[in-house]
Amino acid sequence: MSSYTQEKAVAIDAVLRASRVCQNVFNKLVSSETITKKDKSPVTIADYSAQAVVNTVLAKAFPNDPIVGEEDSKDLHGDAAANMREKIEELANSVLEESQTITQLLAAIDRGCYAGGSTGRHWTLDPIDGTKGFLRGEQFAVCLALIVDGQVRLGVMGCPNLPIDAKNPSGAKGCLFVAVEGEGAFQRPFDGQELQPIKMSTVNTTADSSFCESVESEHSSHSDAAQIAQLLNITKPPVRMDSQCKYCSISRGDADIYLRLPTRADYEEKIWDHASGNLLVQEAGGKVTDISGKPLDFSLGRTLKANKGVVASSASIHAEVLAAVQKVLAKN
Ligand SMILES: *[C@@H]1O[C@H](CO)[C@@H](O)[C@H](O)[C@H]1NC(C)=O
Ligand SMILES: *[C@@H]1O[C@H](CO)[C@@H](O)[C@H](O)[C@H]1NC(C)=O
Repeated sequence: MSSYTQEKAVAIDAVLRASRVCQNVFNKLVSSETITKKDKSPVTIADYSAQAVVNTVLAKAFPNDPIVGEEDSKDLHGDAAANMREKIEELANSVLEESQTITQLLAAIDRGCYAGGSTGRHWTLDPIDGTKGFLRGEQFAVCLALIVDGQVRLGVMGCPNLPIDAKNPSGAKGCLFVAVEGEGAFQRPFDGQELQPIKMSTVNTTADSSFCESVESEHSSHSDAAQIAQLLNITKPPVRMDSQCKYCSISRGDADIYLRLPTRADYEEKIWDHASGNLLVQEAGGKVTDISGKPLDFSLGRTLKANKGVVASSASIHAEVLAAVQKVLAKN
């Protein structure tokens, strides 16, 4: 008997609609000639529209479930934001089944203000992760997870620009990833129906493995990663991409190791940045801890306050990877 069947179906529907809204924003606002490259407002519009869409879909199916979302509507009130409200209303309604007023959409966005915690059930949403990848037309992700009593039970990620087959990077794009606790990890094309099981690759030694790392080095230091790679005798070039698509990429064996090294001592990772990826990697046969080897603790509110950084890899090499991470971080 599969658990969370209805939640899974609703989350897939929500993530696919939100992915479509992001693609619509990109096609309308980013790829058009009318805005300059530095204009970040399309990201903002996509963020709000995607959160409004996901929260509207969730609220209809599960009216009592609170949501920990990245955005709130406080910057969307007042005359200065009128233009933005108009765009959000048009875009969100372009993918929703029942048309919503802007007042309803703002209320939906604010369903994301829940504080999280260790009891009961709540969702966590990153409406668009990887904003730079989004603006470049490269990798970004819509990430949604269900947390029950502090544990991630269901994770769904939409990666609109990720090639369905990593070996054919110019082929069809748009992948949906799904994991249910204890039931495995799966992928399907956006326009396909069948979920196919995915697995981390089975590498026996770190020398045969490769990193998946950020395009932007500010998220996680490339020079530390290079030293770690050296300690692990890794010679394969890293696979570089923005966003939590990195979790998806290693889950299906395109690369083996994803590190998020702490860049500031006081930074607390957000639960919506890691909940679905954490479950996906574990269900694909991998292991995820922080840099001290502790599992990620999603029960402490909106952030992973008890953890520093993330080390995700095939289970068979995790101990060696962790040891190399600790050695390099202790030195630098
Ligand atoms: C890795 O381990 C598997 C299973 O233990 C084994 O079948 C395979 O030959 C090993 N590969 C290498 C390159 O040693
Ligand atoms: C890396 O290679 C060196 C030299 O061959 C070896 O001593 C070391 O154990 C290797 N490290 C790992 C993690 O495989």
